[in-house]
Amino acid sequence: MDVIKTDLLIIGGGMSGCVAALRAASHGLDVVLTVKEKDPLECNTYHAQGGIVYKGKKDSPEELAKDILVAGDSAGYPPAVKMMTKEGPKLVKEILIDWANVPFSTDSSGDLHLTGEAAHSVRRIIHVDDFTGKAIETSLMKLVKENSNISVNTMCVAIDLLTEQHHTNDLMAVYRKPTCMGAYLFNIKSQRVDAYLAKATILATGGFSRIYLFTTNIEGAIGDGFAMGHRAGVDLINMEYVQFHPTAFRYKDSKCFLISEAMRGEGAVLKTPDGNTFMKKYHRDGSLAPRDVVARAIHKEMFENKYPHVLLDIASYMKAEKIKTRFPNIYETCLAHDVDITSQPIPVVPAAHFACGGVKVDLWGKTNIDRLYAIGEVSCTGVHGANRLASTSTLECLVWGDRAIRAIIKDKDYYLEYDPPKIKEWIYTGVEEPDLALIHQDMNVLRYVMWNYVGLDRTKERLKRAIEDLTHLKEDVENFYRYTTLSRELIELRHAIHTGLLVAQSAWLNKRSLGCHYRRS
Ligand code: SIN
Repeated sequence: MDVIKTDLLIIGGGMSGCVAALRAASHGLDVVLTVKEKDPLECNTYHAQGGIVYKGKKDSPEELAKDILVAGDSAGYPPAVKMMTKEGPKLVKEILIDWANVPFSTDSSGDLHLTGEAAHSVRRIIHVDDFTGKAIETSLMKLVKENSNISVNTMCVAIDLLTEQHHTNDLMAVYRKPTCMGAYLFNIKSQRVDAYLAKATILATGGFSRIYLFTTNIEGAIGDGFAMGHRAGVDLINMEYVQFHPTAFRYKDSKCFLISEAMRGEGAVLKTPDGNTFMKKYHRDGSLAPRDVVARAIHKEMFENKYPHVLLDIASYMKAEKIKTRFPNIYETCLAHDVDITSQPIPVVPAAHFACGGVKVDLWGKTNIDRLYAIGEVSCTGVHGANRLASTSTLECLVWGDRAIRAIIKDKDYYLEYDPPKIKEWIYTGVEEPDLALIHQDMNVLRYVMWNYVGLDRTKERLKRAIEDLTHLKEDVENFYRYTTLSRELIELRHAIHTGLLVAQSAWLNKRSLGCHYRRS
């Protein structure tokens, strides 16, 4: 087992991980940032389309805070919302516009173009056409790679967090505050496990929506950080609040492509397959109602009328040339699957999109475990409450990515003087070759269970069945994990099932329908 020592270990290279790495490096910390993929750009941030909240013409932090709390069904944490709405727009300017030079779209007078999205009371979102995430991630990762204080280790799959309580032979550790000292990571290239020892560790592993059959998320978004955190003893909250994006284009089997809410913000309207509008029946804001309301309404229309999908019509409301320049990514992708959005409506369905809950953190990204922080989607700052307002997740990444490092730098001596104790050697218990058919089938079972029983429409019976099925599956997979040689697929399956069970249990325990958690019984 190789032991890699660093000041700061960041697990995950999306927007929050990059911001934290750059901030830490600028204070002279030695940073190791690990990612699962060969290409560090491949993360959910890269595929985000809509944009990031900035500030509208007649806007204020208070107006933004009101919209966030209303969209979150009044279950958001006001101090976190207040802080983010005050600090966020300043950081957009400082980090994204002035430092990373993200090429945000401008209007004809050269000002930043402001777009609207559902449940925003004003147009306040800046964007780069419809590939904002790609532009942000590319700009930030370029700075990360150029920075000599940051090492980017690719193809490393986190297995578990290292804690003094679980991974040393120190019998006294259980009497102290739980302390994180890094993580075990599986190196896909060497097929070996390495121990990363760090004075501070940041979980920036993203979300878990890929544990659902239909999702807008990338392959790797299976909940690594939630499962590792839970095994290490972190507090997790609001796990039942899984946001379903109303408009995904389902183009092949279960594959989905996000159709940005910005399209409805620019005038597109939801219709039934026979061309009738229906959203006003559900909310006075029609197609621009809060995301949870729209997703449930589509689900209901599809279920009751046996529609395979509903339609999103932009062609009737925007000129063809404008569609192509405002939504080039969506236009090209739909065209590649035989839908010309300049003349045809897009068939859309809801799909799992975002985890509003996660590892409980304070206003500085601190968890209940010493030396462990969580930022981005894996964390629960309380900002999103029971349902997230569009284009606030990127803002949250920026604010907490910055704040976690401010907290570490404020206590720099405390962090840097720490010398992680000797850890137990990793023992390779698995000897049997992994059977990929079993791993894929177990992952499929998980995705069906989550979609059908822990989805948009939850009942006591469905949740009970989900917990029974997943408990059984988890036991099988834990056994399988012990006697099988390690692989990315196996590690991810273990994380995914653990996370799925956490979501199902939270949904079971919360009998009250709120935001995106809807229970019929
Ligand atoms: C979208 O473009 O609709 C997604 C943006 C978000 O989830 O905030």
